Amino acid sequence: MGQSITARAHTNIALIKYWGKQNPELIIPYNSSLSMTLDHFYTDTTVRFSTDLTADQISFNGAIADTKTSTQMSQFLDLIRKQAHLPLFAAVETINHVPNAAGLASSASGYAALAAAGSRAAGLELNDRDLSRLARRGSGSATRSIYGGFVEWQRGTNDLDSYAVPVQETVDWDIQMIAIVLNDRQKAIASRAGMANTVATSPYYPAWVETAQAAIPAMKAAIVKKDINLVGQLAEQSAMQMHATTLSAVPPFTYFEPETLQAIKVVQTLRQQGVSCYYTMDAGPNVKVICASQETPQILAALAPYFSPEQLLVAKPGPGVSYR
Ligand code: PMV
Repeated sequence: MGQSITARAHTNIALIKYWGKQNPELIIPYNSSLSMTLDHFYTDTTVRFSTDLTADQISFNGAIADTKTSTQMSQFLDLIRKQAHLPLFAAVETINHVPNAAGLASSASGYAALAAAGSRAAGLELNDRDLSRLARRGSGSATRSIYGGFVEWQRGTNDLDSYAVPVQETVDWDIQMIAIVLNDRQKAIASRAGMANTVATSPYYPAWVETAQAAIPAMKAAIVKKDINLVGQLAEQSAMQMHATTLSAVPPFTYFEPETLQAIKVVQTLRQQGVSCYYTMDAGPNVKVICASQETPQILAALAPYFSPEQLLVAKPGPGVSYR
């Protein structure tokens, strides 16, 4: 009977987005990305390898995981088994404190927590860089969830040099995100399929890679300066440039829903009134508003006519992986 290990990883929202893989199997991205880890949304995962098991046993929020999730997680466990030379099945219990697959990147915290708990349970002692490389194989955004605060995923060119590094682990200035959960149904087009389609067909894709790369040093400088307006402007631009690649794919597709535009409109109107706030969104309809805490009450009040209090979740910068 192996040791039971529980790890917690927080999700992250990219300020400069990752969109497109140069190597889909190893999940090597075309462009580097930069995110903020959030305190509010996280995953707790417990892993135990055991001689008693005849298959991996995977549960999600107390229920047996569906076949697709189980298969993906077992394939990820295979990477750990191979690395640790451990021919045993595992029992995995995942408690997700993130709305599932709604563009709030539960896969980021999920695979970061599974990498951390799984590797330790298998007897591996990985440093943060190797943990980030391992998490990357589960989901690109998980690469960044190993660290807290602001994190850069350096694209690299291969399995060894594509990993995340901390940019500012302790965030001692005022920045928040308000997640507007428009819809917590499973997203229609998974990020994997969406980005593959975009890479293959959007004539704008090369321009995306070029602009995203150039935005990384600009965002890092804005973070060093603790300049919320610049961080917000650059994040908004990156998000819309990413979404422009989906609109220009063949056939075109979008993650926007009517409520997405409604939320964006509120942010734009507030800004015209002098409130510093900016929006970003991922592979789903939800909008995240970037702002300082002093602006939060006014922003929540402006969103209140359109969205219920349960749809509005405020998060601050959060920590990296920890063990329970
Ligand atoms: O980690 P994935 O494969 O779910 O991709 C995430 C892609 C975006 O969330 C849209 C952008 C990002 O950098 O997190």
